[in-house]
Amino acid sequence: MKIAVLASGRGSNFKKIAEAVEAGKIRAEIALLITDRETAGAINIAREFGINICYLPFKKFSNRETYDEKIVSILKREGVSLVCLAGYMRIVTPTFVKAFENRIMNIHPSLLPAFPGLGVHKKVLEYGAKFSGATVHFIDTGVDTGPIIIQAVVPVKPEDTPDTLANRILEWEHRIYPQAVKWFVEGRITINERKVTVKGASYDSPPVVPALEDF
Ligand code: GRF
Repeated sequence: MKIAVLASGRGSNFKKIAEAVEAGKIRAEIALLITDRETAGAINIAREFGINICYLPFKKFSNRETYDEKIVSILKREGVSLVCLAGYMRIVTPTFVKAFENRIMNIHPSLLPAFPGLGVHKKVLEYGAKFSGATVHFIDTGVDTGPIIIQAVVPVKPEDTPDTLANRILEWEHRIYPQAVKWFVEGRITINERKVTVKGASYDSPPVVPALEDF
């Protein structure tokens, strides 16, 4: 199975997925990285792992629709079956979502449906929530509203800053994202309406549900 990763930034989640592929834990190939930012750290990670890089600056396109049409044509040309958004800072259009329905994953650093969108950790702290976490979900046409695959719960501490909370959550992101990708590649994920089930997984063991098996 061929995977594409779309990233705009640092790329630490991309790196974890690439490591799991290299280690043989995920039996798939990362066909390419697509990025909209020339300075994305993800580009260096792709170089490190010998993964093809496609830099696609948005300013060369007239609108989001034509930009995403180009991405879809590249993904189809490459024979990609799973698209992983990993710190990808663009909202994908319905055209893209339809072309890869239930085949685009995203990671979001909160316990969705709480705190979607940007500036998550600051909002969590200002609200006074006592738990936050991370969510891997499929993409639908809304913002961070798609079917949830796996979530990890993380405590919020009184002394937390957005950075300390982000770092605590990131450690779990790095485990749940490769795990979700692995389940997808193994064909264990089913979706009914918006309910995702992982065949054979345990749903009994917080802080991560379904329970981590390999990460
Ligand atoms: C992560 O916190 C992810 O949840 C969010 O953007 C951040 C990306 O970090 N969507 P990285 O680029 O994977 O290091």
